[in-house]
Order: sequence, then C-alpha cells, then structure tokens
Amino acid sequence: MSLLAALEKQGHEQVIAFRDGPSRLRGFLAIHSTALGPAFGGVRIMAYRREEDALADALRLSRGMTYKCALAELPAGGGKAVILDHARLARKEAFEAYGRLVESLGGRFFTGGDVGIRPADLACVRRTTSYVACESSHALGDINQHTALGVWHALRGCLEFIGMKPAGARIAIQGVGNVGAWLARILAREGCVLVVADRDLDLARRVADAVGARVVPAARLLATECDVLAPCALGGVLNARTIPALRCRIVCGAANNQLATPADGDRLARRGILYAPDYLANVGGVLRGVEFYLLGKKDSRESLERQRDRMLGIAREAAAARRSTARVADAMAEARLVNAGRD
Ligand code: NAI
Repeated sequence: MSLLAALEKQGHEQVIAFRDGPSRLRGFLAIHSTALGPAFGGVRIMAYRREEDALADALRLSRGMTYKCALAELPAGGGKAVILDHARLARKEAFEAYGRLVESLGGRFFTGGDVGIRPADLACVRRTTSYVACESSHALGDINQHTALGVWHALRGCLEFIGMKPAGARIAIQGVGNVGAWLARILAREGCVLVVADRDLDLARRVADAVGARVVPAARLLATECDVLAPCALGGVLNARTIPALRCRIVCGAANNQLATPADGDRLARRGILYAPDYLANVGGVLRGVEFYLLGKKDSRESLERQRDRMLGIAREAAAARRSTARVADAMAEARLVNAGRD
C-alpha cells in the first residue's frame, strides 16, 4: 500500500520522515489527529528490522493516542515518533536534533518518553524544545506513577462491576518495569495479594521483596490463577493462543495494544473475562501531561479517579449491548472524534 493510501485508510493528518546527518538520526513522526487539540505522543527508540516496520509502528501508535485522548475527554489529539536505533547513532546529538524537529512544529505536537527512552534522552530533547514532558519538572510529577494510578482507578471500576473488593483480590502483574513497579506498590497498599513476573528475574525479585509479592517465572504468569491479570510489559499478549489459557476474571493493565487483533476483545468477552480497554486503563501519564502543559493544572488526582466511572460505564454498556468492552470503547472514542470534526 502506498504511504498516502495508508494515511487515508487510518485517518492520519501528517507523517514526517526525519534525518539528521551529523548524529545519524533517522525516524518518523506521525500526527494522527489534532481535531480535539494538539497531538500528544512519546518518542520510541527501537532497533527495527525494516524501515517499514518503524513507519507502521508510528502510524499505529499515533492513532492509539488519538483514541486514548478522545475517550478520556482530553483537549488533545494523537501523535507518535519513532527513532531507528543502530550502533552508530550519536545519541545525545540525535535527541537534540529530534527536539529541534518538535520545536519546528510550534506546539502542534508534544512529546515525551516511551519504550527505550532514558531520562537523559529527554533531557537532551528538553535542550532544544519546550514541547516535551520531562520529568525534571518537579510539578509534573512522575509520569509512570500517574499511569499506574490510572490503571488502579480503572481496576477499581472493574472490581466494582464484578462485585469484588480490592482488599484480598489476587492480582498477577506481568512486567514490573516503570509502570508495573508503581502499580505493585499501589495495589500492595490496598491489600491486594500480588504475584509478579518479569523477564528480568532480579527486578521481579526486588519488586516482590519490596511489596510482599510472590514471584513466578515469566512464562507461567499468563496462566496463573488470579482475579485480575495486569499486563504491564509489551503488546499483543492477548491472542488466540493465550486467551483460552487465562485463569482470571478481569484483565486490566498498562501495556499498549494488549489485544493482538480486534477479534481478541470478542474472545475475552465470550470467555466472560472483563477487559479494561488498554487505552482507557493506561491514559494516566498522558492525562497528567495534557492537564499540566495545556490546562495548567497543579493536580490530576481527581481526573484520574474518574477512570473508575468511565470503566464502570463501559462495562455496563458492554453487558447491556452484548458487545465487548473493546468495541464499546472504540465506538465512544470515534463518536467524540466525529463530533469534534463537525464543530
Ligand atoms: P518498562 O520497559 O519499564 O517495563 C516493562 C517490563 O516488562 C520490563 O521490566 C521487561 O523486562 C518486562 N517484560 C517484557 N516482556 C515480558 C514478558 N514477556 N514477561 C514478563 N515481563 C516482561 O516499560 P513501562 O514504561 O513500564 O511500560 C510498560 C507498558 O506500558 C508498555 O507496553 C508501555 O507502552 C505501556 N505504557 C507505559 C506508559 C508509561 O507511562 N510508562 C504509559 C502508557 C502505556
């Protein structure tokens, strides 16, 4: 498919292919929609096998950001940048060059961290643009913590829907990195019984020791018997192979693109597993960024708490309409975008 046809199919406004000679920076920046406000989206750095894979990632992730902001009723749209990682990249100069590109967009796109990004990278971006959510700003707070708090409130909605209390709920967390570790701390304080797994076994043990959790091998986590499965690692974990083996009542976690295909949302619904749409559950970080940078809000706790009501509303509507929560969430986000386009 040609690039313009791909943009048309998924509804993107703009894609920028960028490079910087001295730093050997190469990548794509996709703006999916600014219908509701400036596009928000992190930058991801990965060793993509092919250039087309990087472009496809930018297109898919930027569209996801539009849906995420629309569902949370934020005055923001969706974008994403991806950088092709390679051994000869001059990292510091590359992120400064990326910042200049973001700056040249004049506020049409706000960036932040994503997979592969270190705090030092964002500090370099910060040198050349102010349109970056950078944790060195004390008042912004820790974005990972905000994301975990959003997951927690969505999870409260899920538990309430199935008539369970948080205290004593058995929760299995896949991946205890930036967000998963915060989530583990929050859930431990609420009296949940935690099982954790991470590909990095030392990390899993450290987090487990700190919160009183049990560690299971990463390969066994998805099939662990529990009340809630919280995917906080990579996407695609809910698929035709894994869903039949799940032994949980709820799936609610931070990972992006948890469903391998839209049909997997229906598969979960048929098994009677309540799924918190990933872009509802993991909106906390971007919600904080939008409220801090665009709306000047000192505190986003109340907005994050509303995730519980959103989740409850979606679960109820899905049950009444006999549709999956994933499809209900998509329809809500799309309705908001259509209305914005008509204004
Ligand atoms: P991270 O890279 O800090 O943590 C991910 C952890 O998962 C790592 O410790 C890794 O070893 C582990 N892992 C990878 N594959 C695994 C597997 N198969 N089994 C067990 N553990 C595995 O990433 P971060 O920032 O915590 O993000 C986690 C997920 O949440 C990602 O999908 C990300 O896109 C998504 N997300 C993160 C946000 C944030 O604020 N950091 C915001 C919204 C979404």
